[in-house]
Order: sequence, then C-alpha cells, then structure tokens
Amino acid sequence: MPSMIDTPTAEPTPQERWTAVDDYITGLLVPEDAALRDALEDSAAAGLPPIAVTPNQGKLLGLLARVQRAQRILELGTLGGYSTIWLARALPAGGRLITLEANAGYAEIARANIARAGLAERVELRVAPALETLPRLVDEGAGPFDLIFIDADKQNNPGYFEWSLKLSRPGTLIVVDNVVRGGAILDPDADDPTVGNDGIRGVRRFFELLAAGVGGGSIEATAIQTVGDKGYDGFALAIVE
Ligand code: DHB
Ligand code: MG
Repeated sequence: MPSMIDTPTAEPTPQERWTAVDDYITGLLVPEDAALRDALEDSAAAGLPPIAVTPNQGKLLGLLARVQRAQRILELGTLGGYSTIWLARALPAGGRLITLEANAGYAEIARANIARAGLAERVELRVAPALETLPRLVDEGAGPFDLIFIDADKQNNPGYFEWSLKLSRPGTLIVVDNVVRGGAILDPDADDPTVGNDGIRGVRRFFELLAAGVGGGSIEATAIQTVGDKGYDGFALAIVE
C-alpha cells in the first residue's frame, strides 16, 4: 500500500478553483430554487449551449435591478431565460421586462421556463434578430428602460449598444456580459472558440464606443473582470448621463 507521501495530490487548476469558489458562494448565498434549476435542466436537455450566467452572477443582475429600482428592463439575448428569470423577479408589481431572442428554438424553451417560474405576465419575449426588434421598440416608444442587459451575439455589440442608448434615459444602467473572453479582447486578431474573431472585434468596438461616451461626458462606465464556473470573463457597466 503506497504511503500518503507517494500519492501526490494534484494542485487544482485555476478553473477547478474558480468553480469550487463559485460553488461555495452559491451554496451559502443562492438558495436552491426549483424554477431556476428546471430552467437550466430543460435548457441542457434541449441542447442549448451551457453559457447562461452563473447563479451568483444571475443574483448580481437581480440585485442591480433592485438597486436601480428598475420597473422596465430590456434584455438582448434570452437563451433559455435563466438571466431573464433573475431580472424579472427583481421587478416590483406592475414592472415589465422585454427580452429579445433571434433563435426560435431557444425562445420556445425560454418561454416555457419563464412561464414555469410564474413570470409570463411580466415578461414579453420577442423572437427576431435584435437589430430588427430594437428600431421597432424605438418606434413604439417602448423606452426608456431603467436597466438594459446585453448578452447576445458579440459581433453586434456596437449596434446593440447604440440602439440601447436610444432606449435609455439619464440614469439608465446598461450591463454587458462577456467583455473579457479570457483576455482575448486585448488582441484584435484573437480568435475565440464560441464568439469568434468577429465577436472579439465587436466587444473591442463596443469598448471604443464606451470610451468615447465617457470622454464626451454622455456615459459613465467601467468594466470588471470575473472568474468563476464559466471561466474568465467580465461585465461592463455603464450609466447614461
Ligand atoms: C459564452 C458565454 C456567454 O455568456 C455568452 O453570452 C456567449 C458565449 C461562452 O462562454 O462561449
Ligand atoms: Mg453571456
């Protein structure tokens, strides 16, 4: 029988450590929740990519919506509705969330997940490319929104951000997911396994728009790098002045 000394224990990889810490935080602060768990399970069973925000990130979105006292929320990129549920739950009575999804198959799963969470009344899901729906929302006078969460295809982030500004008021909070991509955003020629080089360029162009807004005094913004169960990435946060 080998002694303990003969069986080296491998150091956890950074990713294993980030996941373990996410599990620790979530175990303490994000109680098990049937609707959220079922939303993830049914999304996985339907073959949706496992790229929803983590539980502790979803809770952050809900906390931001509450801090913002958001009554009207816009989400770009519904996927299976996981972040939608977190955001919609943070709405007060009478609050509304509009979520945009280009993929009809994803939207079908999301619609069921949102309904099972008891949120069908306050969530409107529009199935079309967001660059088609966003001008319609402007025409309809659907804004201004109090919080906008951009989490769709990354190559269109510049357009999504510019349309979001048209649907904002002074004080609107715009949150953008996936703005770091493991550091790939430092290199305009970098590839990314899921969002591609187009996605990296889209995020970089979005950062340039953000910088121009900060420089011109129309936007206040920062970005925060994150690690966790979904790897090394980040959120940008912007307030419209
Ligand atoms: C990925 C993660 C995301 O949150 C997203 O919106 C798109 C892609 C990813 O890890 O591939
Ligand atoms: Mg994302």
